[in-house]
This record gives sequence, C-alpha cells and structure tokens, in this order.
Amino acid sequence: MTEPTETSPQATEADEYRRLEREWQNTVGKDLLDVPWQQEGASHVFERQFQRIADGLDLDAPGTILEIGCGKGHLLEWLQKAVGPSGPKLVGIDVSEAVAGAAERGLLGLRADGEFLPLRDESVRTIIYDGALHHLIDYEAGLRDAYRALQPGGSFVLFEPVSSPFSRLVHHVLDPIVFKKVEYESPIDQHYKDYFAEDRVLETLKKLGMSLSFRRTDFLAYPLTGCYAGSAFGRSSRLMRFLLGFESAVEKVPPLRWLAEVVSWRFLIIATKA
Ligand SMILES: C[S@@+](CC[C@H](N)C(=O)[O-])C[C@H]1O[C@@H](n2cnc3c(N)ncnc32)[C@H](O)[C@@H]1O
Repeated sequence: MTEPTETSPQATEADEYRRLEREWQNTVGKDLLDVPWQQEGASHVFERQFQRIADGLDLDAPGTILEIGCGKGHLLEWLQKAVGPSGPKLVGIDVSEAVAGAAERGLLGLRADGEFLPLRDESVRTIIYDGALHHLIDYEAGLRDAYRALQPGGSFVLFEPVSSPFSRLVHHVLDPIVFKKVEYESPIDQHYKDYFAEDRVLETLKKLGMSLSFRRTDFLAYPLTGCYAGSAFGRSSRLMRFLLGFESAVEKVPPLRWLAEVVSWRFLIIATKA
C-alpha cells in the first residue's frame, strides 16, 4: 500500500487503530460473523445480499474471484454452491484468524491485510468487498492497489455501508444507545465512520478510469436484523420474507425506489477495468 494520502487521518493514530482492529477481529469480530446465520430470518436477508453480489459477477469468465475481508468464508461458500465445481476459482483474504473458517469450508483462505495486498499485477479477474472496504483506513489507497492486481476487463464488486445524511443522523442518535449494550462494531468501523464515504469511493474508481454502476439497497429488512448483533426480528423467517418482498416491490416503482435509496443502508458498485 502507498503512504496515507494528504486527506487521510494521521499515520500514527491509523497504525494504532490497525492494531486495535486486528485484536478486536481476532477476539470479538470472528464470532459475530456467525450471528446472522444463527437466525433464520436474518439468514434470508444476508442471502439476498449475496444474491445481489452474485448478480454483479460474470461467473462464466475464466480467472479467480477474490473476496477481500472474507471472514470465515460465508459468502464464498454460498458462491461455491451457486457456481458448482466447474465454476471459477474462489479465494478469500482476511486480516483475522477468522480466515481459518474458510479452509474448514473447503475454500482457499489467506491471512493477509487488504491494505497491503500480496498479489501480483493483473492476476485476479474479480475482487469483492462485502462489508470489508470500510475496515481499511486508507481505503482509497487500498482500492488503487487492488486495481493494480485486477486483470484488464476485470471488475470490483463493492457492497458497503451507505454514508448519507440519513445514515449519519441515525448513527448519531442510536449508536450511543446501541453500543452500551453490545459491542458489534470494530474499532475502525466506529472511529472512521465519518471518514468512509461512497462519494470518495466513486471518485477513486473514476480517477482510475473504471466504468461504473452504482445503486443503494437494503432500507428495511437488513437494519431490522440487527446485522452482526442479531435481533428479535431477525429470528422470524416469516417477517423477514415479508419485508424482503416489500423491498422488492418498492424497487420496481421508480419514485418509491428513489425514496427508499435515501434511507438505504448499503450501496452496490460494480466497477470494470478497461
Ligand atoms: C463484515 S466482515 C465480512 C464478512 C464476509 N463478507 C462474510 O461473508 O462473512 C468484515 C471482515 O473484514 C475483515 N477485515 C478488517 N480489516 C481488514 C483488513 N485490513 N484486511 C483484510 N480484512 C480485513 C474482518 O476481519 C472481517 O472478517
């Protein structure tokens, strides 16, 4: 990775947060990764997100699909089932001990830092970040380095938290209450929340000359699952299926879709290298 850019937080503070992040992911974070899969309703919502990511992949193209920040490999395992044994090679990278879970799922998982990628130039067909890019402090430099590793014609699929006036307001009001009870956001997630912005992500990708598609998703069911903290709503399969159906109906009506995007919690970017 390159040195933090002019607009990045101070390197000394950043290094301390990188250390705290690894410690937290190794102790607390890795267990939280299983929480949505222990709740039937929440697992439908996460599977819907996986489907959105899969829809952005060219599964027939040769080459490797790499997930940076793969955790225990839940997404990769789901993709593996979707593509079957003759599909593309799937590989995961994660900075934490959680990556051992990928091997337990029969997947190739490497312990490495997404800010310091051990990848050759133009060696990977597709790179996915599913809720992981915002854990990189200098995510703009991280993206530029991942771009270096991407083959011409290859793509990024980014599925990450929205930073909108609405999301900032809700975080401002609810985080102090929520974090009293449960520690489900990592040190970098919490400390750099205002620093991670989809506009900066888009700007970085545009400067790299990538062609882009962008949309926001997940305004209703996902927040009610409690994400990695779990919730009473997340237990109900019926409720979550109903909410997902409602979201799909809203997405089909342009003015309603626009309104939903104002209060959405995730964005999806597909960016292709020329
Ligand atoms: C929200 S989880 C992603 C979950 C994953 N997509 C799944 O299917 O379970 C974010 C992951 O990013 C990882 N992470 C955080 N900082 C990282 C870094 N600098 N490099 C690589 N992975 C990192 C964390 O250890 C964590 O497993």
